[in-house]
Amino acid sequence: MHKVLISKEIPAIAENLLKSEGFEVVTLNSDVSLSLVNNSYLKKELANTDAIISLLSDQIDQEFLKHTPKLKVVSNFAVGVNNLDLQSLKAKNILVGHTPGVLTEATAELTLGLLLMTSRSLYRASHDVYLGRWKGFEPMGHLGPSLFGKTFGIFGLGRIGIRLAEILKFGFDGKITTIKRNDQKDQSLLSSVNPKLEIVIKSEEDFLANLDFLILTAPLNEETKHWLNKERLKKLSKHTIVINTGRGELVDQDALLEALLNKDRFAYGTDVTTPEPLDPNHPLLKLPNFNVLPHIGSASIEARTKMAEICARNIISGIKNQKVIHSPIKEQEL
Ligand code: DGY
Repeated sequence: MHKVLISKEIPAIAENLLKSEGFEVVTLNSDVSLSLVNNSYLKKELANTDAIISLLSDQIDQEFLKHTPKLKVVSNFAVGVNNLDLQSLKAKNILVGHTPGVLTEATAELTLGLLLMTSRSLYRASHDVYLGRWKGFEPMGHLGPSLFGKTFGIFGLGRIGIRLAEILKFGFDGKITTIKRNDQKDQSLLSSVNPKLEIVIKSEEDFLANLDFLILTAPLNEETKHWLNKERLKKLSKHTIVINTGRGELVDQDALLEALLNKDRFAYGTDVTTPEPLDPNHPLLKLPNFNVLPHIGSASIEARTKMAEICARNIISGIKNQKVIHSPIKEQEL
């Protein structure tokens, strides 16, 4: 019987599907995750595991793979695969699966939520009510820019970026701009984009200097790591609001802190940080123009259920047919 180890509880459909195909399933309890490779209980479990369902917080690298002599499939419960050392996995002939497509709507919706939360100070406005600080309707209270008719720059026009572009163009009459990325090997998504979106591809200078909102939805890789650095932050106009629903490491967080401290009206809204979670005493958490969510982009019931299903199907197909259904090797775009 093949054994599957699941890093943390995920929707039950995964376990049910795997069991119905004759797999033994072990789900780690909340004290142990795949990241704790030196945990003696985990070591024992890993020694006879054929497949794992990993989370984006689990580093599956050379060190980890020393403990997994029987491993045949790694099925990541995410579309992003920056937590996986793909080269080492390939070298050991371990198949890799991920969950593209099914979290597009959920993450695009959440990005819209963050846009509104950050531009219209939703978190702080709501808290004022809870804390008894709100004394009644305030004509000048919590003012922020509207989304309607604004210019949105999307860094990372993969599935999520394109869906967001549709929402902003057709729902808010937004102007959508982007730049070409060197790491964007698969141009097919961009070339099949609805021309009615009228996406303008700009030079980096022009792109950064003329934005109301900059939205980061790119995958994390060597090309995109710390893309939003000190130099690029300086090129943004003072009023640009930055939103990140990709990965925390797309942004140089120290440079961001400095920019948030120094620029009036510049605000940042993010679903992702470095590390996750941020220490509660982190200086970013003290700033009124920093808005953060706990990596919930894909946390719609529909998306997480589909992700669990695909994770299980990747393993079933990987073990039975030596081929996963969704491999990240070709699909580089979020
Ligand atoms: C992903 O899938 O990469 C998201 O960040 C989490 O669902």
